[in-house]
Parts: sequence; structure tokens; C-alpha cells
Amino acid sequence: MSDPVVAAKKDAGIRAANMVKDGMIVGLGTGSTVFFAMERLGERIKTEGLRIRGVPTSNQTAMRAEEYGIPLTTLTLHPVLDIAIDGADQVDPGKRMIKGRGAAHLREKVVADAAKQFVVVIDSGKEVAGLDAAVPIEVLPFACGSVAGKLRELGGDPVLRNGVKKDGPVISDNGNYVMDCAFGAIADPAALEAAINNIPGVLGNGIFAAMTGKTVVIVGGRH
Ligand code: 5RP
Repeated sequence: MSDPVVAAKKDAGIRAANMVKDGMIVGLGTGSTVFFAMERLGERIKTEGLRIRGVPTSNQTAMRAEEYGIPLTTLTLHPVLDIAIDGADQVDPGKRMIKGRGAAHLREKVVADAAKQFVVVIDSGKEVAGLDAAVPIEVLPFACGSVAGKLRELGGDPVLRNGVKKDGPVISDNGNYVMDCAFGAIADPAALEAAINNIPGVLGNGIFAAMTGKTVVIVGGRH
């Protein structure tokens, strides 16, 4: 029997991919759920002759796009995207979210911001009453110590993310470090997002609270 979480991710991904129309420029997020959307887009390119181009949010996504036959473009050529599709780690009832388990949240936020519509694909396990996960934060390596101190002043508990092989810090596709910073229950996600971004040396954080107006959340398995 198939894993219900994987089945839900696949359902969400397929439904998001089916929203894409011919000629669109599509932001391509990172993670297992959005990869199902990309697989379906590749299928539509082959079977329907769908003509799209994607802007990838990570090197991993760019490789998947090549595998699925999705032509790529850049934000330089297309500063405004028709749609962006991405996963999330936590989503609250106000469509605010925490992203970045895959350390791609900096480019993911740039791409989502550039898109007219932001489609978030999740399984129901990502839905929460209030955001409380550790917030991924991309940090300039030079500024790690000072940023950690400022995050503690904000009430956080920053931990440098290490590679799975314990062979040193994770390096983002942009050449930076990632910290995971627990704040407990986040009462005001928009204010915390802005406060973290305001620390010199922080390049971006995984709270997405400023684009709820254009966000559509697709929960796999729930129609
Ligand atoms: C990567 C992300 C992912 O979208 C998020 O971690 C969800 O991943 P998955 O779909 O594999 O559960 O933010 O930086």
C-alpha cells in the first residue's frame, strides 16, 4: 500500500501543475512535493505540447527540471512570473508559513515575490494553528557570531545547521550558512520576519508572512 503522506504530496503537486497554462513563466520551488508538480509539468509538456519556462529556486530543482524536460529561464529575462509553485514546512490558517528545511528559502522567497500567484503545495501534516517551528535563516558566514547574538536578543535560540554527514555547516546554493532559530510560538509572524531581516548579515529568513494575498494553498488529498 502506498504511503498516505507521499500520496497527498503527489496529489497536491499534480493539482498545482494542472493550474499552469500554456505560455506561462513558472517559479519552481524546492522539495519533494513540488517535484511531483514538476513531474506532472514534464508530462504535460510531452503529451499536450504545453509551452512553459521555469525559474528554479535551487541547483537541485534545476537538475530535476532537466530530468523532466522543463525549459528554464531567469529572473533577468523574466522579472515577473505568472505563477510560482512551492512546498512549505508549516502553514497557519492565515496562509502564513515557515519554509526552508531544504535551505532554499532565500531564492524561494525571491521567486515567490516575483510571481503574480503563489501556489503552496502541502500534505495536511503541515497545517498548524500557529507557527512554532524553528525559523531557517540564511546568514553571511562572516557575520555568524554577531547575527546569533542579535537573534538571541529577539528571543531566539539559533543553531548552525550542519550537514547530515556531520562534516561541517550546510552551505546554501548562494555560498552562505543556514541557522535554525527556535522562537517557540510566533505571535506575530510578519513582525518577526521583518525584525530578523533587519539584522545586518541576515540574507533572508523562512517566514513567509508578507504575500498571503496572492497565496493559494493546496492540501493534498483534500478536494
Ligand atoms: C525548501 C522548502 C520546502 O519547500 C519545504 O521544506 C517542504 O519540502 P517538502 O515538500 O519536501 O516537504 O522550503 O527550502
